[in-house]
Amino acid sequence: MTSHEIRQAFLDFFKSKGHLIVPSAPLVAKNDPTLMFNNSGMAQFKDFFLGNGTPPSTRIADTQKCLRVSGKHNDLEDVGFDTYHHTMFEMLGNWSFGDYFKKEALAWSWELLTEVYQLPKERIYVSVFKGDEKDGVPFDQEAWDIWKGMVGEDRIILGNKKDNFWEMGDVGPCGPCSEIHIDLRDQAEIDSKPGKELVNADHPQVVEIWNNVFMQFERKADGSLISLPSKHVDTGMGFERLCMAIQGKKSNYDTDIFQNTIQVIEKMCGKKYGVNGTLNTTDYTDIAMRVIADHLRAVSFAIADGQLPSNAKAGYVIRRILRRAIRYGYSYLGFSEPFMCQLVPVLAEQFKDVFPELKAQEDFVTRVVQEEEKSFLRTLELGLKRLDSLIKDAATKVLDGEAVFELSDTYGFPSDLTALIAREKGFSIDEAGFEKALTEQKNRSRQDAAKEATDWIEVSEGGDFEFLGYDTLEATAQIVKYRKVKTKGGEEYHIVLDRTPFYAEMGGQVGDSGELSPLTPDGGNFVISIVDTKKENDLFIHVSRDRNLDELLTHSLIYHSLIAKVDAHRRQNIMRNHTATHLMLAGLRKVLGNHIVQKGSYQNDEVTRFDFSHFTKVTDEELAQVEDIVNAKIRANIAQKTYVNVPIDEAIKKGATATFGEKYGDFVRVVEFDPQFSVELCGGTHVPATGEIALFKFTSEGSVSAGVRRVEAVTGEKAMEIISNQAAVITKLEELFKGQKDVVKAVENLFSEKAALQKRIESLENEKLQQTKQSLLDQVETRGETTVLVARVEVPNADALKSLAYQLKEPLTSGYIVLGTVLNGKPQLAVILTDDLVAKGLHAGNIVKDLAKEVKGGGGGQPFFATAGGSDVSGLDAALAKAKTIL
Ligand code: ALA
Repeated sequence: MTSHEIRQAFLDFFKSKGHLIVPSAPLVAKNDPTLMFNNSGMAQFKDFFLGNGTPPSTRIADTQKCLRVSGKHNDLEDVGFDTYHHTMFEMLGNWSFGDYFKKEALAWSWELLTEVYQLPKERIYVSVFKGDEKDGVPFDQEAWDIWKGMVGEDRIILGNKKDNFWEMGDVGPCGPCSEIHIDLRDQAEIDSKPGKELVNADHPQVVEIWNNVFMQFERKADGSLISLPSKHVDTGMGFERLCMAIQGKKSNYDTDIFQNTIQVIEKMCGKKYGVNGTLNTTDYTDIAMRVIADHLRAVSFAIADGQLPSNAKAGYVIRRILRRAIRYGYSYLGFSEPFMCQLVPVLAEQFKDVFPELKAQEDFVTRVVQEEEKSFLRTLELGLKRLDSLIKDAATKVLDGEAVFELSDTYGFPSDLTALIAREKGFSIDEAGFEKALTEQKNRSRQDAAKEATDWIEVSEGGDFEFLGYDTLEATAQIVKYRKVKTKGGEEYHIVLDRTPFYAEMGGQVGDSGELSPLTPDGGNFVISIVDTKKENDLFIHVSRDRNLDELLTHSLIYHSLIAKVDAHRRQNIMRNHTATHLMLAGLRKVLGNHIVQKGSYQNDEVTRFDFSHFTKVTDEELAQVEDIVNAKIRANIAQKTYVNVPIDEAIKKGATATFGEKYGDFVRVVEFDPQFSVELCGGTHVPATGEIALFKFTSEGSVSAGVRRVEAVTGEKAMEIISNQAAVITKLEELFKGQKDVVKAVENLFSEKAALQKRIESLENEKLQQTKQSLLDQVETRGETTVLVARVEVPNADALKSLAYQLKEPLTSGYIVLGTVLNGKPQLAVILTDDLVAKGLHAGNIVKDLAKEVKGGGGGQPFFATAGGSDVSGLDAALAKAKTIL
């Protein structure tokens, strides 16, 4: 079976068992402060386990793009050095949300593996949780009994908490699990050592392929476990490993998933993969090709899902992965020009049917990768130079750890690369010193880290949460739970209500602010001010920094009857900016072309900031055209039409714009302003009709990164304010240029007059310098075989002093010239000598240093010419007098 067929067979199998097949969520995790990237199939379903949301079906299956490069699950450093770990991998998964449990889950796993995929039963081992006293979770007898009936007791292994209790992160849903391992060794090896002994022993051919997790608990921030309201199944099968098993390979990289890319890499670098067998984990040509084939996937799909490489957070993780690949290519495959970018189209083609987002943005992703490569290759060169000088200046054969750290920190130069190059030159690096510097930096950044999590305090039954903010800005509500969180900026209270009109930050639109107050006077006399509203998965969190909340929130009286009121004026301005963003996107596409794809957006009450894919600067004329289009749509006062629960296929067919990297359900909300103009999938809030925006005006245009432009614009009040300010400036100018009709012309005239005057001044100064020169030449005295000129002169600047000195020397065959002047109230000296005097041992630098003492200054220069500055003008004559005595 090809990898395509294997993936399809999985989805078909679970479809036949009543599962809804859904698309992979984007690689980049949204609205989840505990995750940067989706690290498992279940991440997008976390809320369904916790009871914060309702799944579209109680049985779901999919293939999920996962990235394990940060946090609890991080395999980055293993990638390339073994044959079965990856940064990005596909996780095939099937889920039961309060539906079937262990019996069906395990039986179906067995059926799929042994009947559909026909994997040999005798090579399969399974593990079962043996229990953990500290957590109070018992041995999983039920799983044991189910497996006993299928695989037989001798192939069941008992596992501890590390291997058989699965947790997504430090907090969140978790539960005991049962893993399925397969032994892919040759028969002779199996005969000499039973596979059972190699399970979970990091053997490259005895690997885990599938994990069935029985989600029953939630891990709280204090480490305790609580039971979930219902029991669920969460499974994850490593697609690449499964393909290795079914295709009879011994390495993931030998499957058709990776061979495709590896063969292109081979052609590009002229080296062969696997000359000593493809399992060679010490050959750096092979390691480099594995690293590149793997990292290419992680980087390309992350960029396609909207995560551009950058200097911070998730963007930095992607940048580091890309750099790791570049540097392996550079060091071991001889790539000194961008090469990863050339591989993007190969990958896009291979995955066009499964993950079409890459093919759809092939040019864009290629461009971004290429720019990153170019800049890192430059960095590598700079780093190499710095390293060379470190090696040259080293007092011992060990390179200083701090310097190595600085190389990695400032130049992005990986320490293992430093070590490698150093080794080639007979040096080693001070590992301990490096580690120390690294730890110190880590500690520093940990102290900067954002939040300290605390558990929620539940105060009332939630029920089905309702967001009311599309229709109203004020509603009654009650508090469901709250928590106190320590952040860098101080303490924050997070409040969850049973229903709310507050919009939580999402899709670029900032969260609402406003207040919570008692519904009736007997509820007390207080106001809780809400400064922001954020989303954590599906939870709407109202953020308050009111100091009195500690005390207030302990009164149960306040939980139940509140009025939640959004700051309407602020929200109105936010909506203006959000609707304007839709109109602007449509306008940009009309003016620049349909390749314009949203790459980021942000709207608050002051501004809309919008990033989009486009390769050249947007000209002033183009911006003006977009502005005209948008303002025309505003004047047309087009009414908002919103359609909810539209099947996603139908929405896309109707031409609705979707954004890559956003997660959409099967049913979507569509916001339309003129069906022929702007139709977008959007969860945001908008003005009822475009006329409310009043006015739209761009304020800036620039580049954010390769292939991405950013525009900022304002609307309504803010646009009016900017225009009035500009008008005021013009009025002022008109006053200044009284009598002149055209102020622009007047300013232009002023500039050209200024330039003409400047020219004239320069020529006058030059003339004056020539006169000075002539009169000075008349003062040259003959002294023996040479001539002497010591004079105090007037010049406009230091350059003129130098030029005068040179010009005075010019006609002399032998001469000693010292000039003194005052520039900006400070004494300056210049000494110039003809070559014969230098040959006799005079040194202008030494002379000027000596003279400078008289003016409390210092200086120096070359043997024939030197200058000095001082601080005491009163000493200038003495310096010149001294100059005369020196010769
Ligand atoms: N969530 C489980 C895992 O990632 C299935 O292994």
